[in-house]
Amino acid sequence: MKVGFIGLGHMGAGMAMNLLKDGHELTIYNRTRSKARILIERGARAAEDVADACQGDAVFTMLADDLAVESVVYGDRGILAHLRKGAVHVSASTISVGLSERLTADHASAKQRFVAAPVFGRPEMAEKGHLFVVAAGVADAIERIEPLLQAVGQRTFVVSDEPKAANLVKLSGNFLIASVIESLGEALALVAKGGVDKRQYLDFLTSTLFSATIYKTYGDLIVEEKFEPAGFAVPLGHKDIRLVLAAGEELRVPLPLANILRDRLLNLLAHGHEKLDWSALGALPAKDAGAD
Ligand SMILES: NC(=O)c1ccc[n+]([C@@H]2O[C@H](COP(=O)([O-])OP(=O)(O)OC[C@H]3O[C@@H](n4cnc5c(N)ncnc54)[C@H](OP(=O)(O)O)[C@@H]3O)[C@@H](O)[C@H]2O)c1
Repeated sequence: MKVGFIGLGHMGAGMAMNLLKDGHELTIYNRTRSKARILIERGARAAEDVADACQGDAVFTMLADDLAVESVVYGDRGILAHLRKGAVHVSASTISVGLSERLTADHASAKQRFVAAPVFGRPEMAEKGHLFVVAAGVADAIERIEPLLQAVGQRTFVVSDEPKAANLVKLSGNFLIASVIESLGEALALVAKGGVDKRQYLDFLTSTLFSATIYKTYGDLIVEEKFEPAGFAVPLGHKDIRLVLAAGEELRVPLPLANILRDRLLNLLAHGHEKLDWSALGALPAKDAGAD
């Protein structure tokens, strides 16, 4: 297929490479042009601007946040003004439920199709094409882009014909991950201050009742204090928990734990830790315990 890809950050670069490897004709755009270099060397075409990346059957966006997505969708040279009728905007970024609703309506008015396809998995998984994709949108649009979702992920879960549902599922998942990082950090601080070896403790957890990937991945990062370079940076984690809280407000669902997580991430930002991975959240309990 003829595909545009906008946003070549930690996640987008790997996803775009896998579309290319699967034989799709790829046109790429990134605000910072230098990030497109490797993909161009592998056969992708560099777009002049956003509009130039919208000439195919579909265009992906994999951008930091709502503001970034709005900046490429709206305006004279934006996606909305240049994607042809019937073509699909595949939104893989973690964005708000509200923006997803707005994009659904605006693309429908422009006779274009919109699929929300946020992803689970860190940059290493994006590079290998092993992401889990949560997709939502009208059935024929999802069917049309199925080969593209297969190229970037190991499995696609279609959750609804309303795109915003996929964004809500993604946000709920990141809320759960942040909860695990915080609680794991607290448990590790407790046992370590009591004289138990942290590595041994983590091995015990992950080979018994806590064998899920998420405990292994984040447990390793916390025990090894490997917070740089960031795979998923603190500002993005903070953005996501704020979006979780906004979704809770809208649906009138109290999320007391999410409020705590928002403050924990704010703590990291207040101390200038923008460049750290959000797993650094798991190091705060040891600091609170005077044991770091
Ligand atoms: N990292 C993860 O583990 C992970 C996993 C699942 C989902 N996600 C989600 O995936 C999205 C991308 O994450 P990432 O880790 O790839 O982020 P990233 O490495 O920080 O990349 C962000 C991308 O957005 C672009 N961008 C930011 N602000 C912009 C603006 N105002 N206008 C135009 N472009 C802008 C950046 O362009 P420049 O290169 O010019 O800065 C870059 O292409 C986020 O929504 C994130 O929450 C991340």
